[in-house]
Parts: sequence; structure tokens; C-alpha cells
Amino acid sequence: MGDDVFYITTPIYYVNDVPHIGTAYTTLAADVVARFKRQQGREVFFLTGVDEHGQKVALAAAEKNESPQAWVDSIVSHFTDTWELLNISNDDFIRTTQNRHAKVAQIFIERLKEKGDVYLGSYEGWYCVHDETFLLSSQLTEGACPECRRPVDWVKEENYFFRLSKYAEPVLKYIEDHPDFVQPESRRNEVVSFIKSGLEDQSITRTSFTWGIPCPFDARHVMYVWFDALLNYLSAVDYGTDDARFERTWPANWHLMGKEILRFHAVIWPAMLMAADLPMPEHIFAHGWLTVEGKKMSKSLGNVVRPDVIVDEYGVDAYRYYFMREFSFGVDGNFSMRTLFTRYNADLANDLGNLESRVLTMVSKYREGLVPEPGEPGDEELVLRQRAEAALAAATASIEALAFNEALAEIWEFVHAVNRYVDVSAPWALAKDEALRVDLDRVLYNSIEGLRQIALMIYPYMPSSAGKIWEHIGIEGPITSAAMPEAGSWGGLASGLKTARGDALFPRKMEAPAEAT
Ligand code: MSP
Repeated sequence: MGDDVFYITTPIYYVNDVPHIGTAYTTLAADVVARFKRQQGREVFFLTGVDEHGQKVALAAAEKNESPQAWVDSIVSHFTDTWELLNISNDDFIRTTQNRHAKVAQIFIERLKEKGDVYLGSYEGWYCVHDETFLLSSQLTEGACPECRRPVDWVKEENYFFRLSKYAEPVLKYIEDHPDFVQPESRRNEVVSFIKSGLEDQSITRTSFTWGIPCPFDARHVMYVWFDALLNYLSAVDYGTDDARFERTWPANWHLMGKEILRFHAVIWPAMLMAADLPMPEHIFAHGWLTVEGKKMSKSLGNVVRPDVIVDEYGVDAYRYYFMREFSFGVDGNFSMRTLFTRYNADLANDLGNLESRVLTMVSKYREGLVPEPGEPGDEELVLRQRAEAALAAATASIEALAFNEALAEIWEFVHAVNRYVDVSAPWALAKDEALRVDLDRVLYNSIEGLRQIALMIYPYMPSSAGKIWEHIGIEGPITSAAMPEAGSWGGLASGLKTARGDALFPRKMEAPAEAT
């Protein structure tokens, strides 16, 4: 169960807007994990997609004088294009307007109804259209939505309800019995207190508009957008339609999302799964929010940063590196052009780019570009090897815990170690004396082996740069065919490969961005 396929998800994004660095954050993190798992030899199913129903989308379409379907059709490519730009390796892209999804959502709601967990009632209370959330008076902040601070609407309509209250105790017990289920711990504690404060039954259909999946047992109702949206995690793996595939893939290993939508994933979703007698996902992780130059991103402030602006200037791998290195995934972080500029020049252009270029230049100059024989390792080589093994082990443990910044810090310890190794071994001095030929061979070999190890370690974060290093070293086949951990054993580099100096991986940026001056 779930052991066969490693299944990781992002939230499905509302299509009322185009992606920005905040929405791209979850997708990027999921991609890093997916690539890491594939590199480890796991079969991976990495799912992302878009959330196309709901009142917010219906209103956005009406404002543009378009049908909701035409509106979502016109927006969706902004998402697929952005994921392509960011080199996202998702295995599927689900749209909730697809038939495969509607069918499964209908099967699911029927099952809950048959079980007696769905009943007809009437809802009277507040609704935040922006967050598509039903709210109690006690949850409002100064009369507004506690999350987005926008005005809320008073809603009175006939709805079907899901008996969420019935599952409060079992969900709480599950969370308490499985400390790794909801992460990080601070968020888990919030979820626990929320459940302990009491759960009301949840409206799961709407009758005041029609843009949604029709309720199979009552044509006047469409499904509440969050109920429909959560089910994407099941519909994409053929729940109720292809049992063999579903069994191999479900449960998900990781559901990743931002902190503001954790409650849906850690309270309502587990309750829905329990009601359908389905296994729980293995882990649910809520990451922090990104601000821009200290402020929340918003259209009205005009400070929304789109990924392409950064990619155009710095390249896709610098984008990926920066967001994974600069922030701790579980807490809020602040994006600034200055920290991006600094990290780019220090970590990428200087530490890694220069290392690659000086090693390959020396191999070209002293050995006609051919990887020499390793010879017998001395103390320096043994230390270097031990550093590589330690970095790989630590980076692996960190990525498994979604501590991407720590993993990269560990990898950069090793980048520094290779730089120091080159400095202290001074191949340029050895090259002056033909009697030291074997020493020079050894130093060059180990320096290139260091680069090879770095390529393997950075692959999940910077797949195209890792691929370039791989290619420059002259290793046959793409880096994606190198299976870890075997490929990472020290000394796996073959002598005699023909290296090639390519263009600089990360050309140095001279001009600091405006705020940095
Ligand atoms: N459609 C729902 C999710 C349904 S999942 C069954 C939704 N969509 S969303 O487009 O509003 O947000 C999707 C994700 O983007 C969330 O994980 C959210 O946290 C993330 N982010 C949006 N802005 C963000 C930042 N400024 N910073 C970090 N992540 C942010 O909610």
C-alpha cells in the first residue's frame, strides 16, 4: 500500500489568478522531492493541477463577460507554462473540470451518503468568497475574513452537510498517535487546538450558483468547491474507477501546502477519508508564506513577483536554488532582489561556477581534457571522500524531512571542501614539475570526482546545471540514469573520459538590483 509508488501532491491552484513566486513555492518544493525520489530509484507520481470551480471563479468569469469554462480554459496555460519554465517534472496535471474528476467526486459523495454521513440541512452564516470558506461569527476578525481580511457575505441556503463532528475524536486521535502525520510541529499543535475547540458539521454543497460538480442525488446542488478540490488527490489516481492503480498509489506520501489551507487538509480531508474507509496520507506538511520586501504580495500594492521575471534575469536553476536555500520551508520568509543577487554571486557564480570552471580548465590545460588515473589516495583525498559521504548522508536526511535549506547548506559545505582541496593541493604548482605527474593526476581526478558528487547532490534542486556538469565531465548517458545511492559511491568516476569546458554555469552578475545600492 503506497510502497510501490511514491505519491506527492501540491494543492490545486485557483485559476482566478496567474501564478506568482508564492504559488510556485509549493510546486517547486514538491518537484525537488519528486526528483530526489526518482533519483533514489522510486517510481514517483507527482501531481499538481488547478481548482476550477467555486464562486470566486464564477464571479471572475462574469466580470470578464465569459462563461466560467471559457475563462478557466484561458487561464490554465499560465500554470502549465510556468511549470514548464521552472522545469517542474509533474507526472499529471489535473483540472477539476475534467470528467475523470467529476466522476470520482460523484462516486465519493454517494459513498458518504450511503454511509449516512451526508444529510440535508440549511446553512445560515458567513462566507468568504476569496477563500471559499464558511465562517462562524466567532471566527471573524473585526467583521472580516480572519485569513484574507476581506468583507464576508451572509449566506442562507439549503446545503448537504458532511458529519464532520462525528470524526472530530477519531481525527484528533489519529493526529496524536502519529506525530509525523501533520508537520511542522507548531502547525500540528494549532490543528490539535482547533479540533479540541469543537467541530461543526461541514456544508459540502451549494445552491446559490451552478458552477460546480452536480450533486448526483440532488440536481439542485453543486458540490462545495473545497469538497470537490480535495478529491483531486483521489481522482488523479483513479479512485473507484481503477482499483489496481488506486491500490498501488494511494495513500499519498506527502501532501504539501501553505499554512493557510492546512485545516482543510489536516481536519476535513482526514475525516472525509475516514468516512470512506480509506487509509490516511502519510504526511501533510504546511509551509510558510513568502512576503516581498517585507510586505504581503497583493495586486493592489503592485508587488506581486512572477517567476519569469527572475528566470529571465538569473536562469531557472538560480531561481530553484534561491527559493530552496534562502528559506526554511516550515516558516515564513521574505523575498528580496538583494538576497537573490547576493546568493547568486556568492553561492552559484563564485563557489560552484568558479570551481567547475577552474577544475575543467586545468584538466584541459594539463591533461588535454582527459580524466586522469586516480592513483593512490593520500590524507587530503581521504578527507575529501569522507566529506562527500557526510554531505550526502546529511543532505539525504534533510531532504527527507523537507529541510531543503539545510540540505543545500550541507551540500555547500562540500562545495567549499572541494574548493579548499584544489587550493591546498595547488595543481598549478604540481604542473610545473614533470616528476610530480602522478600527484597532479591524483589531484585532478579527485577534483573532478568532487564535481561529479556535487552534480549528483544538486540534481533535485538544479537539474539542468547538474546535467551540464555531468555532460562537461564527459559521463555517458544523462544524469537521470544515475541511480543513487550506487552512483554516489566515491571513485565512481571513470578515467579516460573526455571533459569539455562549456559556458560558465552561472556568469557573475555585476549590477546590484536597485534596492541593494
Ligand atoms: N484551491 C485551493 C487549494 C485546494 S487544494 C485541494 C487554494 N489555492 S490557491 O491558489 O489559493 O493557493 C495554493 C497554494 O499557494 C497554497 O499552498 C498557498 O499557501 C500557496 N501560496 C499562495 N500565496 C503564497 C505566498 N505568498 N507564499 C507562499 N505560498 C503561498 O488555496
